[in-house]
Amino acid sequence: MGKEASKSKIIIFGGTGYLGTYMVKASIKLGHPTFVYARPITPQSSPHKINLHNEFRSLGVTVVEGELDEHEKMVAILRRVDIVISMLPFPQVPDQIHIIEAIKVAGNIKRFLPSEFGIEEDRLSFLPPFEACLDKKRKIRRAVEASGIPYTYVSANMCAAYFVNQLLRPHEEHEDIIVYGSGEAKVPFTYEEDVAEYTIQVANDSRTCNRIVLYRMVKNVLSQIELISMWEKKTGRSFKRTHVPEEEVVKLAESSPFPDNVRAALIHGIFVKGDLNYDLQENDLEISSLYSDYKYTTIDQLLDIFLVDPPKPALAAF
Ligand SMILES: NC(=O)c1ccc[n+]([C@@H]2O[C@H](COP(=O)([O-])OP(=O)(O)OC[C@H]3O[C@@H](n4cnc5c(N)ncnc54)[C@H](OP(=O)(O)O)[C@@H]3O)[C@@H](O)[C@H]2O)c1
Repeated sequence: MGKEASKSKIIIFGGTGYLGTYMVKASIKLGHPTFVYARPITPQSSPHKINLHNEFRSLGVTVVEGELDEHEKMVAILRRVDIVISMLPFPQVPDQIHIIEAIKVAGNIKRFLPSEFGIEEDRLSFLPPFEACLDKKRKIRRAVEASGIPYTYVSANMCAAYFVNQLLRPHEEHEDIIVYGSGEAKVPFTYEEDVAEYTIQVANDSRTCNRIVLYRMVKNVLSQIELISMWEKKTGRSFKRTHVPEEEVVKLAESSPFPDNVRAALIHGIFVKGDLNYDLQENDLEISSLYSDYKYTTIDQLLDIFLVDPPKPALAAF
């Protein structure tokens, strides 16, 4: 990377969120002038949100307060940056159409990364509740392509700290661990700090323009059973494995209220069927091959982090 002055300017939408906070910090760490477009602080804002705005400002981030439908404000700020990364949550995925419209008017954006960071939705399909969420992301992909804005779609697969928290429940006292299906299906995990650092690199890389980038690091493709065994070795404990059979997961996806139905449909495709472990094609862009010098965090190393200072669980999932 070149000198500070030559670094691209990056704006992050949803930068105060679970994954967005990692993204903002990675952008700063890699020396990019960083902007966050966030909804305004109000008397109802949580202390967490207020503290985060202050922390960002102390790190040199330009925090711009605005709503997603404030078109003129958005265009004005986009004219001051080069790259747009959206970290908005699932319910706000369709609202990214406002960002696309503003990018078109601004006319200067070199790369847009819409809110993806999970499943490669053009390659996979799931049970209906999760499929409906993915459909919103597919629609945004098609709108981005129709707009002619240079883009990159990041398929980061499963956020490792998020799912270690969900599966192993290290913050709780318990003797058992729930295993979905046989627990043998292999799942690709990426630690959130790596999702963020890789993404900042991807956003600045000409090789990834108008491409999908898949995060699938060899050492981080693990089954639930392997994950539990690693955790048992680290903690010196042993856990009872309580298996939830596939039929039960399907029933939960069909009959639970939102958002539990979405969660069950996601668990079915990922942890029961192992759908994320599809074969890569010759022309696929895989992240650890693109940046072979970058030392990503292995799950083994992440579990060591959990032993010392466990990353907090996300506040909400879908
Ligand atoms: N692969 C994985 O395992 C994994 C895990 C987690 C997330 N993800 C993906 O990462 C992306 C971000 O998800 P996340 O969980 O990090 O998001 P999040 O924390 O739920 O929300 C991100 C931010 O979006 C803004 N926001 C929330 N509601 C809004 C609304 N009604 N209108 C406008 N802005 C609103 C908020 O920022 P302000 O209040 O500052 O505006 C919030 O901090 C999603 O695409 C998600 O699918 C993937």
